[in-house]
Amino acid sequence: ASEPSTAQDLAGRRVLVTAGGTREPLDPVRYLGNRSSGRQGVALAEAAAARGARVTLVAGAVEVPLPESVTVVRVESALQMRDAVLAAAPEHDVVVMAAAVADFRPAAVADHKIKKTEGSDEAPVVRLVRNPDILVEVVENRGAGRAPAGQVVVGFAAETGDADSSVLDHARAKLARKGCDLLVVNDVSAGKVFGRDDTEVVLLRADRADRADSVGVAVPAGSKTKVAEAIWDEVVALIHELST
Ligand code: CTP
Ligand code: CA
Repeated sequence: ASEPSTAQDLAGRRVLVTAGGTREPLDPVRYLGNRSSGRQGVALAEAAAARGARVTLVAGAVEVPLPESVTVVRVESALQMRDAVLAAAPEHDVVVMAAAVADFRPAAVADHKIKKTEGSDEAPVVRLVRNPDILVEVVENRGAGRAPAGQVVVGFAAETGDADSSVLDHARAKLARKGCDLLVVNDVSAGKVFGRDDTEVVLLRADRADRADSVGVAVPAGSKTKVAEAIWDEVVALIHELST
């Protein structure tokens, strides 16, 4: 193996990344899922490892191979992802929530396969309940002292603009709601992010987003690996600023 050419600016840092979509079980053979490919999270985990970090990757459903240079924890549902993330977060200096966590799950999971009724056209109604917000809980735990000093927490947001608010307006509101340090904002208005390898994001920092004219750092369109490098550049800057 050749030496990595990248700067080892995450050497010794413990980094937790979530990737992929969650699957919310309906019965033993069915789930509600989403179109997340996991590419961005996996690219983040690989890039962090190449920069010297010790990486834990909490992976839901992903369509890409998982890196061998990182510790992988496989999960399916949002509740499993929550347990894995909250258990591991106190041992990590950086937490990056790149996963597409389902907002809702079926209220009940049937313990047998749901069957059609012979001679009837009736269909079941699936009732959903809210999932916990893992990112918010990570931030709350940090606030309660259950985190290493200076822990950096990063969230993702896929937003579309609408008549009343721009993508950035939505993103600033989400950043405030989540309480994380950095929000990676994807404009999905054109619906061209999921499953593709190139992407374009804006990095919004909490300590700079209070100004209405704050537009964040625009990362030029590039591969998810390129975008991952830009995110780590910003995280490294945050680590140094928070420790001085
Ligand atoms: N997230 C999370 N737990 C959830 C939902 C989302 O940790 N139950 C995280 C995602 O991993 C992401 C961030 O929160 O880092 C923002 O996710 P997003 O779906 O954009 O935000 P929501 O608060 O769910 O808002 P929306 O109604 O726009 O989906
Ligand atoms: Ca959501």
